[in-house]
Amino acid sequence: MSKPLSIFLPALGVTGIVLGVAYGLSTRSYKAQEAAAALRAAMASEARVEALSAQMAEVEANAATMVTSLTAPAPAATGPLGLGRAAHPEELAAWDVDVLPDGRGLPEGSGDVLTGEEVFADKCASCHGDFAEGVDNWPVLAGGFDTLADEDPVKTVGSYWPYLSTVWDYVNRSMPFGEAQTLTADETYAIVAYILYSNDIVEDEAFILSHENFTAVQMHNTDGFVIDDRPGLEYAAWRAEPCMENCKDSVEITRRASMVNVTPLDEHMHPAMRGEMHASMAAPAEEDPQGAEQAAGDAALIATGETVFKKCKACHQVGDGAKNRSGPHLNGILGRRAGGVDGFKYSPAMSESGVTWDAETLASFLANPKGYLKGTKMSFRGIKEDEDLKAIIAYLNSVSQ
Ligand code: HEC
Ligand code: HEC
Repeated sequence: MSKPLSIFLPALGVTGIVLGVAYGLSTRSYKAQEAAAALRAAMASEARVEALSAQMAEVEANAATMVTSLTAPAPAATGPLGLGRAAHPEELAAWDVDVLPDGRGLPEGSGDVLTGEEVFADKCASCHGDFAEGVDNWPVLAGGFDTLADEDPVKTVGSYWPYLSTVWDYVNRSMPFGEAQTLTADETYAIVAYILYSNDIVEDEAFILSHENFTAVQMHNTDGFVIDDRPGLEYAAWRAEPCMENCKDSVEITRRASMVNVTPLDEHMHPAMRGEMHASMAAPAEEDPQGAEQAAGDAALIATGETVFKKCKACHQVGDGAKNRSGPHLNGILGRRAGGVDGFKYSPAMSESGVTWDAETLASFLANPKGYLKGTKMSFRGIKEDEDLKAIIAYLNSVSQ
């Protein structure tokens, strides 16, 4: 907790400079009065710094006690994973704002239509219009009755929403747009009362909405929603008892995250973890641990290479029965003379290049095909990542053997 104090140290430095300036002024025999004034100012600012430091110390002392009570790990941290702490009641309360149709979750409070109109004019009308009729394309909050069966229904809080709790919850949770959760409970009650009034759900300007009479309010469309439980439709499908254990006879791992590049093999990863990932993807370990590690590393590289090969698949085939497509098949490519597949129509650039494909020439070619072999008809941008280059070559090598 010594950090905040350091903010004030530069302030002391300023005093030093001011004193220095004052000294400079007096020695250069400017008016002595000016020098004296500067000195007085410097002393005053020094006194201020002292006062501030004292204040700071007090704040720090308070903060120290607050910090221990807020961030002290709760006993839950000693649970199985040793992570996190129990949430504080205040934190839970801040999240726990939902209001249910039966009124659960409503805070105590009240507000009347006229107050609501004022707050609405102040905080909502710029978007929703003075009468909740909506400005430009901002949502309309009132009217639209008897349009629900139309081709283009006007669905508003009044015409469409079945529960008043949704209005309270929504306004409290997310309005005013851009300044969510700045309304007090009473303001929200007042606004909701005003929205009810705008929708002719209450007619008396003196109507007061509160947590007590909240559930007595009847919305126009309360009965407008029915559950579509026809068999074969979604609802029926989701009502089936979900299987929670032993839902599959046998489990088989078909892909690994690292193969589909969801979990890249990061060079910053802890070596122990890298080893683990490699090993988990490799063939069963051999006796010699050094060799096993090597094999595991290769397997991971080849797996990555297989993913990289997706970029080539549109034009090249490898493996048993590989055929020429728009590019030649790549079986046995390492050690092959460039342009060497019989029956494939290469560009002169390729067939006359005199290149033999090895790890080095392949890497240069694949990194930048047209740059390496001007005139090649392989339209491919190139592979930019060194790791991917290594991987694709390891893969091509593995399928060549
Ligand atoms: C800056 C413009 C703006 C202001 C100010 C604003 N709103 Fe909204 N309001 C919106 C937008 C935009 C939506 C639609 C949000 C969405 O669909 O995600 C919305 C949606 C709503 C809805 C839901 C409408 C529906 O049928 O889906 C209600 C209710 C609402 N606002 C009430 C209020 C109240 C009450 C206030 C004042 C406390 C307020 N808004 C202030 C822009 C605003
Ligand atoms: C859009 C199609 C296309 C894509 C994608 C493509 N290639 Fe090619 N590739 C070709 C064509 C066409 C040739 C023949 C080039 C020539 O004759 O100049 C070729 C040639 C090659 C050669 C030389 C073959 C030989 O017999 O000398 C290699 C190696 C090669 N491609 C590897 C790759 C790899 C690896 C990828 C993916 C990273 C890839 N290519 C992506 C079309 C493609």
